[in-house]
Amino acid sequence: MESVFKPDILNGKTALITGGGSGICFEISTQFGKHGAAIAIMGRRRHVLDAAVDALRSQGIRAIGIEGDVRKQEDAVRVIEGTVKHFGRLDILVNGAAGNFLASPEDLSPNGFRTVLDIDSVGTYTMCHEALKYLKKGGLGKDPSSGGLILNISATLHYRAAWYQIHVSAAKAAVDSITRSLALEWGSDFDIRVNGIAPGLIEGTLGQQKLLPKEITETRKGLMPSVRLGEKWDIAMAALYLVSDAGKFVNGTTLIVDGGHWLSQPQYISKEEVKKISKIVEKKSRELTVGLPTSKL
Ligand code: COA
Repeated sequence: MESVFKPDILNGKTALITGGGSGICFEISTQFGKHGAAIAIMGRRRHVLDAAVDALRSQGIRAIGIEGDVRKQEDAVRVIEGTVKHFGRLDILVNGAAGNFLASPEDLSPNGFRTVLDIDSVGTYTMCHEALKYLKKGGLGKDPSSGGLILNISATLHYRAAWYQIHVSAAKAAVDSITRSLALEWGSDFDIRVNGIAPGLIEGTLGQQKLLPKEITETRKGLMPSVRLGEKWDIAMAALYLVSDAGKFVNGTTLIVDGGHWLSQPQYISKEEVKKISKIVEKKSRELTVGLPTSKL
């Protein structure tokens, strides 16, 4: 699908996208590039980075891929400095690197729990911390009166609770909290806007493969609740809104982009039944209360 934004809205900007070599974050890299930004992607696998950079360059996007693990502070420093060395500045940091798998708490070791928090929560914080000197107003290549942007990719799992996702729910709750704290402190001190996106299930991603495994969905057709899947494009458009001037007054929010899925719950009474019984129940309750002494009404 074509973008609804003008193609020059990110002209002159440089974006660093962790986990930007695949899935949702590759689409964010592509759309940011198509709207004028130079793109640096950070990931652990050289072949994934190379394929992603080739695909971006083939569309005329200025792009580089730098290997690194967000769990290692020295990698964060090296990748951020490598980006600035190559493109001369850093304007947008997208924290998309994440880890996920399904596991029940009784089968998940503390190290498994910690691994996901290390990638998602501590990794996000580390990248933000190391990028500050370039993102803040007056940072290299920045206007002395305006700073850069941070976008943290989150989830909706922790708004209620999600089966087999105790680790990711805890990790993303921390990410949302980091988004708000940095928006408060770095928004006022350094003019950096910090926002998040909480995507729903997105078609053709590792998340879809991991959370709705085909091995299960194919054998349970008819039993599985139907879930409307989003497209990577939906998330990339939300990201463009948040990092462009269209979102210039938005700070500290995590935008849910899931078609309303997180609100869904079983419809335990049908509409026909509600039509039939609602008025009868109401009438009965009035009869009951009318019979009571006034002090109890
Ligand atoms: N169930 C239970 N525990 C698991 C698990 C699973 N499916 N997968 C990993 N773990 C545990 C391991 O057993 C280990 O704990 P232990 O030392 O107590 O045994 C711990 O998690 C770390 O696993 P390891 O494989 O060494 O970590 P890693 O750094 O190589 O990989 C992951 C990190 C596990 C998060 C891996 O899934 C990954 O790299 N993910 C990145 C891609 C991704 O998931 N993206 C998100 C898409 S939604």
